[in-house]
Amino acid sequence: MYRAMRCTALTGPAALSMQELEEVGPGPGEVRVQVRAIGVNYPDLLMTRGAYQLRLEPPFTPGMEVAGEVAETGPGVKGWSPGDRVIALMRHGGYAEQVVVPEDALIPLPAPFGFDEGATFHVATRTAYHALLDRGRLQAGETLLVLGSTGGVGLTAVELGRLQGARVIAVGSSDERLAVARQRGADAVVNYRTQDLVDAVKSLTDGAGVDVVYDPVGGELSRASTRLLRWEGRLLVVGFASGEIAAYAANHALLKGYSIVGVRAGEGARRDPAQARRARDAMLAFAAKDHLRPHVCRAYPLAQAAEALQSLESRGVVGRVVLRP
Ligand SMILES: NC(=O)c1ccc[n+]([C@@H]2O[C@H](COP(=O)([O-])OP(=O)(O)OC[C@H]3O[C@@H](n4cnc5c(N)ncnc54)[C@H](OP(=O)(O)O)[C@@H]3O)[C@@H](O)[C@H]2O)c1
Repeated sequence: MYRAMRCTALTGPAALSMQELEEVGPGPGEVRVQVRAIGVNYPDLLMTRGAYQLRLEPPFTPGMEVAGEVAETGPGVKGWSPGDRVIALMRHGGYAEQVVVPEDALIPLPAPFGFDEGATFHVATRTAYHALLDRGRLQAGETLLVLGSTGGVGLTAVELGRLQGARVIAVGSSDERLAVARQRGADAVVNYRTQDLVDAVKSLTDGAGVDVVYDPVGGELSRASTRLLRWEGRLLVVGFASGEIAAYAANHALLKGYSIVGVRAGEGARRDPAQARRARDAMLAFAAKDHLRPHVCRAYPLAQAAEALQSLESRGVVGRVVLRP
């Protein structure tokens, strides 16, 4: 038997409760991983409300990424052995003491990382990489505006943008939160609570604006950011942490010659696995050199998964939080 946090109704994080489950597997080609840390992602929160693209019927176990040690391998598994330190990826099921996944859902834990960093590496870096490089074609020397830069996928975009040689302007709701974005490589920051976003970015860019906007927030900040896009700029629609899906004026995109580009990191990987493998290798190479490292600000016991999700929702988190079984 093992324990997992199960979502028993689509009413939000409070509907999570600890339950004992029967061990199954590992079947052919599968691996059992003893979980040491679990990454908490915004989509987990949306799933507890039935508000994510993937809508699961309760009871289910949220959780898209974990890190731990291989406990047992099923028949035919060649590449992994008990004791290997790994990251395991899944669409759900991670809020648990153990997971059973196909062997190709594992990646080796980068040497500089502990389990907390491993559990928070893949979803955010995959999202930022797919958005900025595959979809946004970010070039060295371009200017990148990162909305939601103090959150999980935003902070990673700051780091990755800098690694690509872009000039990065990070946007957030407080100077304290933005200090972390600066530490992670932002060239300049804008606090939208105390500054007007458009005026501040125009002044930082001598009126020229930006080439790429990375937008996991939506709402008013997203609409305002379109006023900052240069000719042939790209607005990367990553998510709606503000809760508001922005509507854009097509005539404005036409007049200013910019593109509005949808980003779905998980679906992109399912549709083009070869491209996703290339991206993963590039991200792992950055991680191995310690150039890309998740910023984990807090750890909760697995039993407090609801509190962890609520801290994300109430913006009490800079970077990432993890759960520990
Ligand atoms: N497209 C994809 O493939 C993909 C993949 C993963 C995640 N996502 C989406 O990306 C979005 C962000 O995910 P995340 O994991 O980075 O979340 P997060 O860690 O909670 O970060 C969101 C950031 O948005 C800012 N924000 C602005 N208004 C907000 C509001 N009303 N409520 C909460 N936050 C607000 C917050 O920063 P300030 O307080 O500093 O403004 C916060 O740090 C989510 O919508 C998620 O579903 C998309």
